[in-house]
Amino acid sequence: MVDYNPFSDEVVKGDPLPIYKQLRDEAPAYYLAQYDTWALSRFEDIWKASADMKNLTAAKGTTSAHLLTKVQPVTPMINNMDAPDHTRLRAAFRKPFAAPEVAKLEPMIRRIASERLDAARDAGGLDVIHEMTAHVAVTVACTISGLPAEDGPFLNDLVWRFFKREEGHDGATEAGLEAMAEMFAYFHTKIAERRAGAPKDDVLQILLEFEQDGAKLDDDALASHLAMLIIGGSETFPKTFASIVRRLWEHPDQRQMCVDDPALIPDAYNEGLRYDMPTQFLMRQVKRPVELAGAKMTEGQNIMFLYHSGNHDEREFPDPDRFDILRRPPRILSFGYGPHSCLGVNTARLEGRVCLEELLRRAPRYEVELDQAERLLTEFVQGYWKLPIRLSA
Ligand code: HEM
Repeated sequence: MVDYNPFSDEVVKGDPLPIYKQLRDEAPAYYLAQYDTWALSRFEDIWKASADMKNLTAAKGTTSAHLLTKVQPVTPMINNMDAPDHTRLRAAFRKPFAAPEVAKLEPMIRRIASERLDAARDAGGLDVIHEMTAHVAVTVACTISGLPAEDGPFLNDLVWRFFKREEGHDGATEAGLEAMAEMFAYFHTKIAERRAGAPKDDVLQILLEFEQDGAKLDDDALASHLAMLIIGGSETFPKTFASIVRRLWEHPDQRQMCVDDPALIPDAYNEGLRYDMPTQFLMRQVKRPVELAGAKMTEGQNIMFLYHSGNHDEREFPDPDRFDILRRPPRILSFGYGPHSCLGVNTARLEGRVCLEELLRRAPRYEVELDQAERLLTEFVQGYWKLPIRLSA
């Protein structure tokens, strides 16, 4: 009988894929009595439930800190909103996140990636997270959001502190919550500066003009929205990039295919996203009784979407544990699905393509120093915290 606990060492510190496979085979809707929560592990069930905003709500929170450990209150963020307000805000955000607008960021992304790689030439290598992609991701997130790009390193530091976990402590720590409070204080000053200055064409301006229940958002709500954008925009991309760097190194034939034909790089990044999705799960709460994956779920119960499991579901992907950049699957779960699917999908795909192009152009036979890599191991997000590479073999 499968025994699943998202906080267990087996899941957090080991490889969760064997237990996810057991869940998919034996209990596709697994009940966690301690949390009155259901875990969905099959691709199709997660896909369908992600689109079901009639019976499920995001307004009670979507993370383990909201719904499992309950250490974090639900604050106004686009991912914690339901229709019709969510639909209106998504529509207002369409332009800055749409492909044509995001494409304008390509020279900036290329410049940062190139500068970082060139600066590492003398040292012979770099940590692809702290010394490269974290800078790319936070600069992009700041630019889209309307925050000064030079504050990126300060914000990255706060995000890392928030995600750091302590031995013997389930979920976010006191220090992590303090980092979050510091980030909110910073956003308050930036909001005040914008209110006192001229309007601009960015996400902060859209938020300042957005009305909910007939009133503009207050500063706490604005800060909360900004936090989501900075964390969502800066935290996940470097982990997905580090994973693809590792997987291509482990599969030199596939890496060489990308070097010979850079048009394959988007496929390679997509396979990396599928293979090593860092966000283990996001959540919803049941607002109307619903049957999912053969289980009857009642109002107030929580549901986990086990994305990393869904991305390795043999019902969706033939031979799912094989890394294959030519797989070209019609759908993956790494950006979610449905009304809350990732707004930053164009941004993340652009960052992934450009950073890989620049790395492979300069260092087609880079070596990963796996013995010096460090992983961030939490119930919520897993992936590299540090991944040093040597630029030449
Ligand atoms: C590889 C990098 C990324 C991954 C794997 C990722 C993953 C996801 C996932 C799975 C969701 C669905 C949330 C849900 O259904 O509850 C989501 C939502 C979201 N993402 Fe991303 N994301 C990435 C990058 C970004 C970037 C770069 C940005 C912004 C610049 C961003 C902004 C957002 C926002 C605003 C939402 C909420 C959308 C909504 O609720 O309507 N993400 N992301």
